[in-house]
Amino acid sequence: MTMPHTELASVFPKIGFIGAGRLGCALAWCLDQKGAHVHAVASRSADSATALAAGCSACAVMSPQQVADECDLIFITTPDAAIAPAAEGICWRPGSSVVHCSGATEVQVLGKALAEGAEVGGFHPMHTFADPVTAARTLSGCVITIEAGEPLSQRLSRLVTALGCTVNHLPAGMRVRYHASCGFASQFVNVLLAEGVGAWQSWGSTEQAALAAFLPMLRGTIASIETSGLAKGMPGPVSRGDTHTVERHVQALRDFDPDMASFYRALCRRSVPLAQKAGRIDDAQAASIKAVLDTAGDAPE
Ligand SMILES: NC(=O)c1ccc[n+]([C@@H]2O[C@H](COP(=O)([O-])OP(=O)(O)OC[C@H]3O[C@@H](n4cnc5c(N)ncnc54)[C@H](OP(=O)(O)O)[C@@H]3O)[C@@H](O)[C@H]2O)c1
Repeated sequence: MTMPHTELASVFPKIGFIGAGRLGCALAWCLDQKGAHVHAVASRSADSATALAAGCSACAVMSPQQVADECDLIFITTPDAAIAPAAEGICWRPGSSVVHCSGATEVQVLGKALAEGAEVGGFHPMHTFADPVTAARTLSGCVITIEAGEPLSQRLSRLVTALGCTVNHLPAGMRVRYHASCGFASQFVNVLLAEGVGAWQSWGSTEQAALAAFLPMLRGTIASIETSGLAKGMPGPVSRGDTHTVERHVQALRDFDPDMASFYRALCRRSVPLAQKAGRIDDAQAASIKAVLDTAGDAPE
């Protein structure tokens, strides 16, 4: 839902960015499109700052201090390692709000801003910003994780809603664990598919052919999770209690790539409680599968 311009502007009249990279550009452009006033940008290079400003209606390139002086909400969208030095190089003022967009970086890196009277927080879009134009087009619909006290948390939540995104609130102290967890829904999907592709390449097929076959299956799995949940939506031999097939899989993979076989066994072990939770296998079947996983192929890890 697009928030009327005046309402969005009443939440944060002037928004500024320090760091004009992939996320900074995408977020600034989206906010501008939704009627927010992206007022100012600073970056390490003038070219990057100018590119961000060019995608907004009325955004000027300034120094980081000017951005902080003139804006009500300042996004620090530098690489993670540059967030603390960037924040420490600025004199902050009470009444302004400062957030960073890093998933793994603690909000305490903005401690100088907090000490000087600004409100601070974390604003982490659970989205991939590989290319800012594509990311700006696809941001709507994603979840944005906010870690902030009140009233900043509520004001940021209104911004998230205006972007067409959903708010996730994160308690303090959970940031690194939270960010690690996101890997299971992003980069580790690539890792899992790379294992499968490796098996196809072993008989002379290609990554392209394997992915053409895997991706429709992956979409089906996602649809099944959406409909039935993680446990009931899980397919595969463990979910059917098919101990013999699991054993033969491990043996076949061990002959081809022992590391892949070990990884496969670890994944199967993690599949057993899900199959039990779905009520598909009983305790005896679970024990039988675990025993096979410990004994099939190499010695247990
Ligand atoms: N990329 C993603 O998928 C993604 C997803 C979620 C969260 N994030 C988070 O978003 C933040 C930005 O990531 P990104 O991928 O957008 O990084 P990026 O593409 O590397 O952009 C970072 C920008 O910050 C500028 N910069 C570097 N040091 C600076 C400094 N000291 N002062 C001012 N500007 C500085 C860079 O300089 P130039 O002016 O030289 O270009 C660059 O434009 C990070 O905290 C990251 O963890 C990223």
